[in-house]
Amino acid sequence: MTDLIGVLYIIAFALFIYGLMGLTGPRTAVRGNWIAAAGMVVAVVATLLTPGMSNWVLIALGVLLGALVGVPAARRVKMTAMPQMVALFNGVGGGAVALIAWVEFRTTDGYSDEPRYVAIASLFAALIGSVSFWGSLIAFGKLQEILPGRPITLRSLQQPLNIVLLLGAVGCGAAVVAGAHAEPLMIVLLLAAAVLGVMVVLPIGGADMPVVISLLNAFTGLSAAAMGLALENTALIVAGMIVGASGSILTNLMAKAMNRSIPAIVAGGFGGTTAVTAGSGEVRPVRSTTAADTAIQLAYASKVVVVPGYGMAVAQAQHAVREMAQLLEAKGISVTYAIHPVAGRMPGHMNVLLAEADVPYEQLKEMDEVNSEFPQTDVALVIGANDVTNPAARNDPGSPIYGMPILDVSASRSVIVLKRSMSSGFAGIDNDLFYEPRTTMLFGDAKTSVGEIVEELKNL
Ligand code: TAP
Repeated sequence: MTDLIGVLYIIAFALFIYGLMGLTGPRTAVRGNWIAAAGMVVAVVATLLTPGMSNWVLIALGVLLGALVGVPAARRVKMTAMPQMVALFNGVGGGAVALIAWVEFRTTDGYSDEPRYVAIASLFAALIGSVSFWGSLIAFGKLQEILPGRPITLRSLQQPLNIVLLLGAVGCGAAVVAGAHAEPLMIVLLLAAAVLGVMVVLPIGGADMPVVISLLNAFTGLSAAAMGLALENTALIVAGMIVGASGSILTNLMAKAMNRSIPAIVAGGFGGTTAVTAGSGEVRPVRSTTAADTAIQLAYASKVVVVPGYGMAVAQAQHAVREMAQLLEAKGISVTYAIHPVAGRMPGHMNVLLAEADVPYEQLKEMDEVNSEFPQTDVALVIGANDVTNPAARNDPGSPIYGMPILDVSASRSVIVLKRSMSSGFAGIDNDLFYEPRTTMLFGDAKTSVGEIVEELKNL
């Protein structure tokens, strides 16, 4: 039986890795997801075959309950609500690891007869898993707007409190490793880590939330891998390390895209700036335009760069945008798409939407590549994007997005912004781009506006 389990685990890992390879491109991503899911089914079956596995009714009940909650939630979730869904599902993984560590503590009487490395790995898993669970719940609450999205801090008390909580949790763990088997030590460790998870995420402002979710994801992976080490479960070690490593790489990429440092994230040292609400100051004039004028301006351009953002996703305007681009291309106009790494609400959000509308992959340009093209661009058409074009990220050190690289749309000969109102974007701040002399605003729902532009283009 042990041999069969070993073989099944190897098949599962191969499927995980093959599935992950599929996730590197939008065309193969769905297949990759299915392959990895099949790998997970094999891993679960192998685990259930492990000698000593009993309580089949309880296991079946758990699987049923999980499926009843998870399947409808995943089916119904809107693409725009994906980050909070990821935060929640990921957090549950961390919570499960923390609970397993606790059960392990109880069944082994505080790891009394276990080798020291088992106690260390279990306690590490408990600490990180608990931080990840509670931190993810706060991230979910913020993104779902159950909690205020603005940073909530204890000001100068924040850092000392976090250090005390961390030292408290580590101290309890050290006492257990040193031979104290009292259960309250484990409970205090889990509680201190829980409060630490809450305290680390509460001060983080909206714009920085994606990096935090990805970091917590990596934490969950690490805690699962540590627990796998303690339980000598290879599947948990491999799956945990894959999640931990890919989560760490993603965190690194996103932190780089937003010009944030990861140590500062861990120390809660960013996102702490108070967001300034748009429209709180003086009323400034903007120039508005119509779909007919926009169509004429586009038709006389030779180079158009579309800048998609969260609003395009909300409006589901991608198909209309594709149709508009085809009409322009038929007139010999060059159309490309400027993709900011954090445009939308999740990594790759714009790539997924545009791929869904069959926009040729070669037309999508990454930020670094396209920024040098804006000075030769006749019209930058900003569709439902806001923060990723905000010059405050360059010019205003007090801005919550200061330092984040932006798409340099104002270098274009003209800018047309499609959005419904003068409301702010995710970071809750005003955008000077809208008031610049080269910018005109086309107010309305993005899908409706682009549809109107398409009709006007057909009539030209
Ligand atoms: P945002 O700055 O959030 O701006 C989106 C704009 O879309 C809003 O100003 C809104 O203005 C407009 N909008 C909403 N619904 C619309 C509709 N139906 N039709 C037309 N416009 C509509 O978006 P962005 O520029 O893509 O920036 C992304 C932000 O989200 C960044 O701050 C980023 O840090 C954050 N974030 C990113 C991620 C990732 S990983 N991508 C995850 C979480 C958060 P109106 O209300 O006036 O229409």
